[in-house]
Amino acid sequence: MSKTVGIGITGGIAAYKMADLVSRLRKDDIEVIVMMTESATRFITPLTFKTLSNREVITDLWQDSQEWPVQHIGIAEELDLLVIAPATANMIAKMTHGIADDLVSTVALANTAPVLIAPAMNSNMYQNLVVQDNLKKLSLYGYEILDPASGVLACGSIGPGRLPEIDIIYQKIIRMLNPKQDLKGKRLMVNAGTTCEDIDPVRFIANRSTGKMGYMIAEEAVCRGAQVILVSGKSDLTPPLGVDYIKAWGAQEMCDIMLKYQPMCDIIIGAAAVGDFKASRAANQKIKKMENKSGSLTLELVSTPDILKTLGQAKKPGQVMVGFAAETQDLIDNAKKKLESKNLDFIVANDVTMEGAGFAADTNIVTIIERNGETRSLPLMSKKEVAASIIDSVVNLLS
Ligand code: C5P
Repeated sequence: MSKTVGIGITGGIAAYKMADLVSRLRKDDIEVIVMMTESATRFITPLTFKTLSNREVITDLWQDSQEWPVQHIGIAEELDLLVIAPATANMIAKMTHGIADDLVSTVALANTAPVLIAPAMNSNMYQNLVVQDNLKKLSLYGYEILDPASGVLACGSIGPGRLPEIDIIYQKIIRMLNPKQDLKGKRLMVNAGTTCEDIDPVRFIANRSTGKMGYMIAEEAVCRGAQVILVSGKSDLTPPLGVDYIKAWGAQEMCDIMLKYQPMCDIIIGAAAVGDFKASRAANQKIKKMENKSGSLTLELVSTPDILKTLGQAKKPGQVMVGFAAETQDLIDNAKKKLESKNLDFIVANDVTMEGAGFAADTNIVTIIERNGETRSLPLMSKKEVAASIIDSVVNLLS
């Protein structure tokens, strides 16, 4: 059944950013009820949120409502989670002391669902002991409080007080809504992105991997309670909240890092697009284009380590290992060979020539092939859903 999130927007300049959050939650089929304080409506109109949430937006305790005869009680009863973002010092103070003099603070008091607060204000206000004391108190009451981001604030001052990235708030919401904690107590290591092999100090060999699949797996695993180590090659993505993030450049470095952490892991997933070859000798100086009279340059390439194969040889009993097989032909046969040669428990095969599958796409079409030969072909899905299916298969194997 779909979940319902109430978002109480209070009067900060970051109020406009909540439009993005509402539309992201709606894309996940989460019902969103937006409530705004009077000051919030000065920064962005209720109509924006009405359009995005496809629900009435309540701004006033006394407003006539089609949906709820007594709004503050009706709304509170529907919620699986209440989010206050951006939360002003004023709203934080009212919530701390049980003041209910507007719609948002009244719903906050009537609400029994978990609460997430994302403070956003000028740094001096945020660091004021009164605000800090209030936040401590709310935290003791069991409310989740997100740390604000630091940087240049709208008022020109620099310091903590910015609304955290919408992606961070979104991830936190998904985690709070997701009661599945089937990886609690487990440590999972996943690699992601492209490895890079130097040709000279400015050039390198890489590939088109963006890291989306591996980052999604890391996010899903944290969400389900795992301790996650994300070993990332080159990627422009922001690491998910709560992962131990380690950057790697070349295949050898990535392999060394993963070998070091392998003994403490219950699950290892190889989602990185590891380059298969590197220059036999990277030049110390930048290779000049005019030095070469023939107009050609011969690079000698040698193999990089096969990370999963190396880890597969050192696999400890009970450790679950998963790999990917991106193929352009004979998908199942090639994937099965890799499953064997790398000593994996299952492999996620995808035909990268299919529309909606492969590197930069937000979707993928995969077949999960188990060691016992069982195969499960999944339809076109978002990478987020593929990540959830992979974690489901891991949980199955662990039990
Ligand atoms: O052999 P192939 O590169 O197609 O296998 C793909 C799987 O093996 C992926 O899970 C990838 O992360 C992993 N791999 C690796 N080290 C390599 C090449 C691939 O771990 N050098």
